[in-house]
Amino acid sequence: MVLLMLRRILVLTVGLNILRSKLNNMALIFNHRYSGYLIRCFKRLSWTALTVISAFMGHNLNADNWGVHSATEASLLSGELLFPLPEPPTDLDYREKGSPSAAKIELGRMLFFDKILSGNQNISCATCHHPSAGLGDQLSLSIGEGGNLLGLGRDTGEGLDAVHERVPRNAPDIFNLGAKEFVTIFHDGRVQQPFKNKNFFVTPAGETLPSKLENILAAQALFPVTSATEMAGQMGENTIANFAAEKDFTSIWNALAERLRSIPAYVSLFEAAFPKIKNGSNELTFADAANAIAAFESQAFRFDNSPFDAFLRGDDDAMTVDEKMGMSLFYGEAKCASCHSGPFLTDHQFHATAMPQIGPGKNHGTSGREDFGRGAITEDAADNYKFRTPSLRNVALTGPWGHDGAFSDLKEIVIHQLNPFDALAYYDRTQPVLTGRSDLDAIDWIAMDDAVAVDQLADACQIEPVNLEPDEIDQLVSFLYALTDLRALDMTDIIPSSVPSGLPVAD
Ligand code: HEC
Ligand code: HEC
Repeated sequence: MVLLMLRRILVLTVGLNILRSKLNNMALIFNHRYSGYLIRCFKRLSWTALTVISAFMGHNLNADNWGVHSATEASLLSGELLFPLPEPPTDLDYREKGSPSAAKIELGRMLFFDKILSGNQNISCATCHHPSAGLGDQLSLSIGEGGNLLGLGRDTGEGLDAVHERVPRNAPDIFNLGAKEFVTIFHDGRVQQPFKNKNFFVTPAGETLPSKLENILAAQALFPVTSATEMAGQMGENTIANFAAEKDFTSIWNALAERLRSIPAYVSLFEAAFPKIKNGSNELTFADAANAIAAFESQAFRFDNSPFDAFLRGDDDAMTVDEKMGMSLFYGEAKCASCHSGPFLTDHQFHATAMPQIGPGKNHGTSGREDFGRGAITEDAADNYKFRTPSLRNVALTGPWGHDGAFSDLKEIVIHQLNPFDALAYYDRTQPVLTGRSDLDAIDWIAMDDAVAVDQLADACQIEPVNLEPDEIDQLVSFLYALTDLRALDMTDIIPSSVPSGLPVAD
């Protein structure tokens, strides 16, 4: 009874935490947007009136701050950017023109939120990619199966069920991945579709990858369930965990399909979503489940209508002056768009940007606590410390940032991307958001305490430092805020109230 009460209180605290962070996000965005509206309102007043008001308020009104006269805007108008502005995305940029069948989406939604897909039935995809947490988990490094609750309130679990390690990388947001141009998935690109119009995927499963996967997102969805730390569990805990320990992916997928077949509500959903599955469930495979999850993710997590898009479509007032100044730096002097290019602000390539390395790492380097990123996939040392350029859409909502969540302040990671060498040297170790536990904490800083490893990280960096004034850095951050589709501030309507397995959804 007492335990139940405690659990309720915990759930409530987490709920409040998520709400608080959401309100924070809203306040931040509102601030950014609101100052813009104020400026626009002011613009409509006469200049003399403004000067009088401003003299009254003691503000120094410099004509340059008001957009119309600014050199930057003039250069924007005359097209003097170093990198081209993208076209805003349209339905045609998405697979199935952005609208897979409703039945498939609904099945995918249930599977995404259902803990039935994890070995110990205690974690779902949504735990780490939650609509109330910017489609991530608000942590620098995820806490996988064995942990309890969500977001900032997530703990590391108790007793034998407690987690064995932190997930070594940050759970990225999964916005807009239904766009056709996403053919490289994961921070290190270990799931790839090398030929654009061919359903052939390079994945860690090699030859054992099931056929009939509809797209790269479906290929991706096969893998979280095979990871002991993320979803499968430790050897001896359940049959799926045992298969995971042997890297027997096919048996894991068969066992999960078997679980789904035994739940009548799932069988009906599969029959509705896939005409080939009739009268019962024998043909139901985990590849079908993955296809449905992919359809759901593509449709539900498309949030690509930001003030920046409105601006690109010709609404000059859609962005504030600061946001526009930030944009011209992003596509100009700051050279961000040399990597963050195209409609999703990513070139989908791999670059080394000297991101501080925290957490257990991927068993690379002399300490085993480093993460070589792309280098570990290509087995070419020249690719060490390279990670895939992330999309920056909705980036204001998706912190902590970086492949290992090394930054929890957006401005700090922007400063890092401008001059990674200085930023690495003066990295502020209070940035990461990590669920504390002494044995896990003890290894978090091994890579950063290793001077040789840090030197190698810096040596690999491909960014040429750019020096900006403090107010220019603020403008860049403002521009990143303008990449927010405001609908993404509240995605709670995506969360189902229950799932076919009957397992809890709220935590
Ligand atoms: C324990 C937390 C956790 C769970 C549970 C989890 N993920 Fe993830 N997810 C991650 C992490 C961490 C990464 C990045 C891993 C990497 O790049 O090496 C990731 C990456 C992804 C990506 C790739 C994003 C990109 O831009 O490359 C997708 C898509 C995704 N997950 C979907 C899912 C789905 C679908 C499920 C359920 C079947 C799921 N995840 C379960 C933590 C989790
Ligand atoms: C040389 C290519 C390159 C340049 C130039 C570059 N970035 Fe990046 N950016 C990346 C890569 C690669 C990552 C992921 C690095 C990692 O996680 O280790 C990244 C990560 C980020 C992130 C974190 C996103 C997330 O979801 O975690 C932000 C924010 C960001 N960059 C902003 C900028 C800004 C602003 C600029 C310009 C000042 C810039 N970047 C310049 C390649 C680049």
